[in-house]
Amino acid sequence: KIPILIDCDPGHDDAVMLMLAFGSGLFDIKAITTSAGNQTQEKTLRNALKITSLIRADIPVYKGSEKPLFRELIIADNVHGEMGLDGPILPEPVLKPGLLSAVEAMAAILTESTEKITLVPTGPLTNIATFLLAYPQLKAKIERISLMGGGAFRGNITPTAEFNIYVDPEAAAIVFRSGVPITMCGLDVTHKALVFQEDIELFRAIGNKSGQVVAELMDFFSIYYRRERPELDGGAALHDPCSIAWLIDPSMFMSKPCYVDVEVNGTLTAGTTVVDFFDVLKKTPNVEFVYDIDRKKYIQLIYEAVKGLP
Ligand code: BDR
Ligand code: CA
Repeated sequence: KIPILIDCDPGHDDAVMLMLAFGSGLFDIKAITTSAGNQTQEKTLRNALKITSLIRADIPVYKGSEKPLFRELIIADNVHGEMGLDGPILPEPVLKPGLLSAVEAMAAILTESTEKITLVPTGPLTNIATFLLAYPQLKAKIERISLMGGGAFRGNITPTAEFNIYVDPEAAAIVFRSGVPITMCGLDVTHKALVFQEDIELFRAIGNKSGQVVAELMDFFSIYYRRERPELDGGAALHDPCSIAWLIDPSMFMSKPCYVDVEVNGTLTAGTTVVDFFDVLKKTPNVEFVYDIDRKKYIQLIYEAVKGLP
């Protein structure tokens, strides 16, 4: 099993990412830490616990930072709703968060581990950046960072910036400049990782509680995409599970090594990932930049994982 540590802000697609990670049976999920992003820290933490309770995953969940490093928090309630996970009626979580903070938990887990651990962030990078600054000696224990964020050719919160990077650009810059190998699933690939109504019906037809929840999450999530992204032909961009799917089967994706940095102070482009796709700068690549996906295989992978859940 691949040892991983997940940092997320559930969030509809984060919730499906957690189900794929746990349901695949391929990962040793050391912990889940929560970032403030799609909703406030209080809500993303509760949502992470609701999902682990639903899928009966005995994974410790730790509370992360309440705000970006230097900025006020921006949330995506227009996409994810008032609770951050609107749509299905989920019972209050039976599981409780751990006593350590997200960053303390990351440090303890990496210190104790005899093997390197992959970090999987699918929200703003505040916790990961704080951890890298506070514990530089533990960088060597990180195998890779497989993240959802950014994009080379488009943005979704400004014309050029993607939400997770835009919420905390300083944190993203720290992560991209850290020297740790990064796999970046940005909007270039995630806007091809689409879920359509017929896929949603397949999840509903599985007949278990998790399949029903995935279907109801995607019903809600699709409302935004159909209204705001008609060019996706009724599909909703299922972003976050890409960062887990790439770890399971990179052959499902097209990618290439690129040098990537983050624009922190641009007047038009703050929070943009600047991807040197054509290697103009001749700098050593720091990122495996993912830009295409076999969509059918992706949905099938998630389907199989959800089928095995409660
Ligand atoms: C990212 O922003 C969030 O709304 C999603 O969960 C995803 O991580 C997409 O831009
Ligand atoms: Ca997310």
